[in-house]
Amino acid sequence: MSNKHVSTLKILMVVAGGALVVRRAVRDRAPVRPPAPSPSAVTGVRGLKLLVTAHERLADGVVGIRLEGHDLPRWEPGAHVDLVLPSGLVRQYSLCGDPEDTSSYTVATRLVEDGRGGSREVHEQVQEGVELEVRGPRNRFPLVEAPAYVFVAGGIGITPVLPMLRALPEDAEWRLLYGGRTRASMPFLEDVEKLGADRARVTVVAEDEDGLPDLDAFLADLPEGAAVYCCGPETLMAAVEERLPEGTAPHLERFAPRTAAGGDGEFEVELHRSGRTLTVGAGSSVLAAVRAELPNTPYSCEQGWCGTCQQRVLEGEIDHRDELLTDSERGDSMLICVSRARSARLVLDL
Ligand code: FES
Repeated sequence: MSNKHVSTLKILMVVAGGALVVRRAVRDRAPVRPPAPSPSAVTGVRGLKLLVTAHERLADGVVGIRLEGHDLPRWEPGAHVDLVLPSGLVRQYSLCGDPEDTSSYTVATRLVEDGRGGSREVHEQVQEGVELEVRGPRNRFPLVEAPAYVFVAGGIGITPVLPMLRALPEDAEWRLLYGGRTRASMPFLEDVEKLGADRARVTVVAEDEDGLPDLDAFLADLPEGAAVYCCGPETLMAAVEERLPEGTAPHLERFAPRTAAGGDGEFEVELHRSGRTLTVGAGSSVLAAVRAELPNTPYSCEQGWCGTCQQRVLEGEIDHRDELLTDSERGDSMLICVSRARSARLVLDL
């Protein structure tokens, strides 16, 4: 194995966190069932208030949360919800419970010691009896129809994969590589091993016991037409992508943003309802310029993954720099924290 591959694999075994950051699902095949409707269609912009009825340790550094309500919107494997935390931070988590259960949602999150505060808040301040606003579900990582499935999950990245494994027919052809630092740090390990026990479909690689996973071997001899799914840190995505044969596009769910707020040229933004025109400098963002005029404009992550800053665009050509919005949403809206303009001027419905 090359040095490059060794170092990549070392990094990919470091589990990076729980909140989903950037999503890209390649929809080259029809979904098994239609994806869940968008949050605005099912729960409104403000989402639902759900009660935390369980907050429990699932693995070292990982807690699971059950949120209860009534007649909750249904979801499909791969879907996520936005949790609005008590501080106002918005974080996205994959749903990992039973899609048929319309009385509760279950999510899991890993504590990121040097993170931006969301996972620590979930671990230390969210507890049973707390009410949280939940937006969604949304699904940009749907399970497609395919003759075979190959899954690669890193640590907390198992959460969207687990409902997929449960949803596959018993005779479906699938295999999973599930990696983590130690077995004790890997959530849902027992469930996953049970699901794949009959045909030795699951390869568990705990770095402290087994060393580094052999991705080259795992991704060799892919079945014809197999759908390859990967969820985990960015390094894991890259390692999987670079090993797939040309023409094979993986379905990815990322844990780290790939976009930046500033960069490129200056442009103007007209705020249609406010009647003001702003200049967005090369090193600044639309969000920063807008908030200088309208300080109550909502935002949270400032990295293009939570969707809080989404605004309708009335005129102009958008330079989308997120991977969150769907193609239809991109037609007339943008995430103003990261996206910019291709035209000299944008008109926002603000
Ligand atoms: Fe989160 Fe813009 S503030 S996407």
